[in-house]
Amino acid sequence: MPLVAGVDSSTQSCKIVVRDADTGQLVRSGSAKHPDGTEVDPRHWWDAFTQAAEAAGGLDDVAAIAVGGQQHGLVALDADGNVIRPALLWNDTRSAGSAEDLIRELGDGDREAGAQRWADAVGSVLVASLTVTKLRWVRDHEPENAARIAAVALPHDWLSWRIAGYGPADDASAPLGPQLDKLFTDRSDASGTGYYDADAAPSDGGTDQGADEGVGAYRRDLLRLALGRDDVVLPRVLAPTEAGGVAHASVAGADVEGGALLGPGAGDNAGASLGLGMRPGDIAISIGTSGVVSAVAPTRTADGSGAINGFADATGNSLMLAVTLNAARVLDAARTVLDVEFDELARLALAAPPGADGLVLVPYLEGERTPNRPDATGTLHGIRLKSSTREHLARAYVEGMLCGLADGLDALRALDVPIERVMLIGGAAQSPAVQRIAPQVFGVSIAVPEPGEYVADGAARQAAWVLASARAGEPVEAPEWSTSIATTLVADPQPVIRKRYAAVRDLV
Ligand code: XUL
Repeated sequence: MPLVAGVDSSTQSCKIVVRDADTGQLVRSGSAKHPDGTEVDPRHWWDAFTQAAEAAGGLDDVAAIAVGGQQHGLVALDADGNVIRPALLWNDTRSAGSAEDLIRELGDGDREAGAQRWADAVGSVLVASLTVTKLRWVRDHEPENAARIAAVALPHDWLSWRIAGYGPADDASAPLGPQLDKLFTDRSDASGTGYYDADAAPSDGGTDQGADEGVGAYRRDLLRLALGRDDVVLPRVLAPTEAGGVAHASVAGADVEGGALLGPGAGDNAGASLGLGMRPGDIAISIGTSGVVSAVAPTRTADGSGAINGFADATGNSLMLAVTLNAARVLDAARTVLDVEFDELARLALAAPPGADGLVLVPYLEGERTPNRPDATGTLHGIRLKSSTREHLARAYVEGMLCGLADGLDALRALDVPIERVMLIGGAAQSPAVQRIAPQVFGVSIAVPEPGEYVADGAARQAAWVLASARAGEPVEAPEWSTSIATTLVADPQPVIRKRYAAVRDLV
């Protein structure tokens, strides 16, 4: 019974699950918090990882490990392996202007043409979240930092590199030192950089292809456009079952012969998709720090409108994503405004009628990404005497948050993405108000899987897959781990909710 570990280094915390590689059964787990903020020193991720590993009873007995991580964050390293500045995270919107500059530049001054060219080249129209815009921002605002960049990694790449024993020369927890050429990543996370084409074949003229066909190619021309140079190390892109090396024995695998294999890892959304066992036709709606509507498809999209990101998944398919910046934290804000806990918030929201008698919250509390309104603020609209109650306010917050996600589902529909099964995951999916109102807003039946750490589970499943492939001496099928559905919410369309929401959203 080999054991494998899956890591979710997310915006808020680091979670580790240890599972039986054959059955997927959970053996132990641990977690530790990350600091708040949209720029974070990556050392905190390392500290949280080591604390979470300790809380999980240590990793000496795992035969493989893989890391899923928050996407897009810019980890800029100097030649000695030091992090040059705190990582700029996916939800940091300061590079919104840089995104616009790059769109216009690629379009030779024409924004629409530029948007389509970015979508064609890398699957996504640029928004502040994507790494390439953060590189441009550093070039423009911190030229002395930009000049020191020797390698660019994403959060999961950097953590995998540290697990392998690499890091700054003067850091005792990095015994193998600053070997930048040992950085590796996977298709899913690389596809969120803005300088990688996940569907490129080696003959398409990209650069730095992985060793195998089908792992895409970096677009160093686009990196050069952003940074003004392209002489930086980029992590090698691994195929889904390719090991990136072994974990350093001081971190994991000390009791296992040959050590713990390191899987390629994945962006968190691709990790969740693998953890849920998603197939084409499945849609996952995830309500966490970000709100994500995702779908798996055989090839990537090139949506010039920018609503859908055409990323890659962790199995060789494409992962289409609509992402909002305002999800679970909208419910946190409602709790603060009403000074209640989650249960009471749900009770209040369910005591008001669908549509909250016209009280609408457009929840752009942190700006918004889909639609692309980085500087927007939220709007509470349509208040009357009748709707001046705590119940109406609670309902407006829940409906507004869900309507933002329903716009994402519509954007997938507009691209003719097949929608056969919709699943709801993330911490907020457990709220009775979300479970009751979601089928009203989305108008479809929704399966709610058992609460779980699907990103960490996906990383663990990848680790088991890499292990099985290594033992077979060739890529094998991913292990079948089952996902149990806790409840199915029956469709209860209440069109009034989205109609009123759309009217106010388009007003502002
Ligand atoms: C995806 C995205 C977020 C982060 C959250 O494009 O920006 O979902 O990955 O961790």
